[in-house]
Amino acid sequence: MNTHAITDQLTREYLDSWMIRPSYIGSTAADITAEYFGETYRSPVMISTLSGMTRVNPGGNVLLAAAADMTGTLDWNGVLPVEEGLQILKQGTRAVLSSKPVADMDRILEMIRTYAENGAKGFVMDVDFIFDPDTGDVRNHPMFGQMGIKTVHDLKTMVNCSDLPVIIKGVLSTEDAEACAEAGVKGIVLSHHMGMIDSAVPPYFMVREIRKAVGSSLTIFGDCGIRSGADAFKALALGCDGVLVARPLMKPFAEGPEKVAEVLDHISAELRFCMSITGSKDLKHLNAGSLIRRDF
Ligand SMILES: Cc1cc2nc3c(=O)[nH]c(=O)nc-3n(C[C@H](O)[C@H](O)[C@H](O)COP(=O)(O)O)c2cc1C
Repeated sequence: MNTHAITDQLTREYLDSWMIRPSYIGSTAADITAEYFGETYRSPVMISTLSGMTRVNPGGNVLLAAAADMTGTLDWNGVLPVEEGLQILKQGTRAVLSSKPVADMDRILEMIRTYAENGAKGFVMDVDFIFDPDTGDVRNHPMFGQMGIKTVHDLKTMVNCSDLPVIIKGVLSTEDAEACAEAGVKGIVLSHHMGMIDSAVPPYFMVREIRKAVGSSLTIFGDCGIRSGADAFKALALGCDGVLVARPLMKPFAEGPEKVAEVLDHISAELRFCMSITGSKDLKHLNAGSLIRRDF
């Protein structure tokens, strides 16, 4: 995987460019309960789409899902063998399962139907994986196979093949967000996939423009660079409905899902503090005016 430090740095600098202005008087202890696709969760801070977790802990994504259960949050997964996805659902985890944007649409549709029948809460596909950063061509990945170009028609087919909410990951432009809305996609993940693109625009830089374009027709998740509750608060106050965390969970996961849950709970608690001190009583009433852009 190509990763570019400058992209992570730009995202870091963008989040750091916002300052939080508190207002205590009359504020109440915040409620961080989140609602996605008709289900209620304890926090909008979630595990991001991770794959290959058996390399970190032999329990793999099935064990990582236990951390989501402990925190009462929606469990996101990267690409997995379908059997592993089904195991996660069987243990009762409320999970989003995923596929790479492979060329074989029938395979994708079959996966969506299988996960839908087995109680998944969503299906995510990372469209930012279509093109090969080394050649610019459509990617033929040694492990994940031949990718395929995806059109609005393809997304519509995915949306219409079951009741499962379809979510598109890797959106960074208003055009893509509008295409997703047109196709009936339910959610998008604003992401540069840990710096896969050189000098990619920070996801949180784009969220206000995208929100303005699509209104409330899409649930918008922010991904990349969330390292604290203040980061999560900024992403949410700028317009995200939830945030995903990936790399900070890797080391804790080597020690077990309890450690992952501790990290997530800590970020959630920090988020709640930021909300309480800014008069943001819940996620529907985030005080966007409490963010001030640094200009000194
Ligand atoms: C080990 C590992 C595996 C990943 N697998 C996937 C994947 O299968 N699908 C995907 O869309 N993103 C995948 N990602 C990317 C993350 O979901 C996330 O977009 C990225 O790491 C940025 O978030 P972060 O800054 O919190 O790490 C993976 C990341 C890591 C570190």
